[in-house]
Amino acid sequence: MAPASPIHPATDTANICLIGLMGSGKSTVGPLLANQLSFTLVDLDSEIETRLGRAIPEIFEQLGESAFRHEEARLLKHYCAEKHQVIDCGGGVVVTPENRPILRQQTTVYLAASPETLARRVGSGKGRPLLKNAHSMIDHLAGLLRERELFYRESAGIIIETDHKKPLTIARKILTGLNVEQKAHPL
Ligand code: S3P
Repeated sequence: MAPASPIHPATDTANICLIGLMGSGKSTVGPLLANQLSFTLVDLDSEIETRLGRAIPEIFEQLGESAFRHEEARLLKHYCAEKHQVIDCGGGVVVTPENRPILRQQTTVYLAASPETLARRVGSGKGRPLLKNAHSMIDHLAGLLRERELFYRESAGIIIETDHKKPLTIARKILTGLNVEQKAHPL
């Protein structure tokens, strides 16, 4: 774990944003964190689907990736104006330049993982348009990681290496990074 900017105790914290490539564990760790902190959980991908009235593969197919990115940026800004939420961001949130300063203003956690781990976790890649037609899932994810890794690292105040770690362990590490006392029923 490498803190890159000051970490505020959760009580101070506007929002916790989870970032990382597809398969990094954001959607399993998010609910655990939200529950422990009594924060609202926001799944940005689901919000985009609701807003655009279709599933992510259809959004990419019918409206194009730029429409998806536009809505993603709009909703990130919208939710970051609120407080006390765990925001599970889609893996590509950092590719839109205007999103990165917004993420830096939150308590943003990068869930880092190797391409091998990511490939194991995403399986066939179903429901993820950017993994469609990947010949080798590991190589494809390694390419995306090369493009995005710097953006993840510069957007996050907390970095957790998640290889070989279970979601509960990852959530505990984040809470430790936040300096948060756990509830009566610890994770
Ligand atoms: C994307 C990741 C997906 C989703 C969309 C694009 C990406 O979210 O937002 O398919 O660009 O990496 P998850 O990281 O939650 O799978």
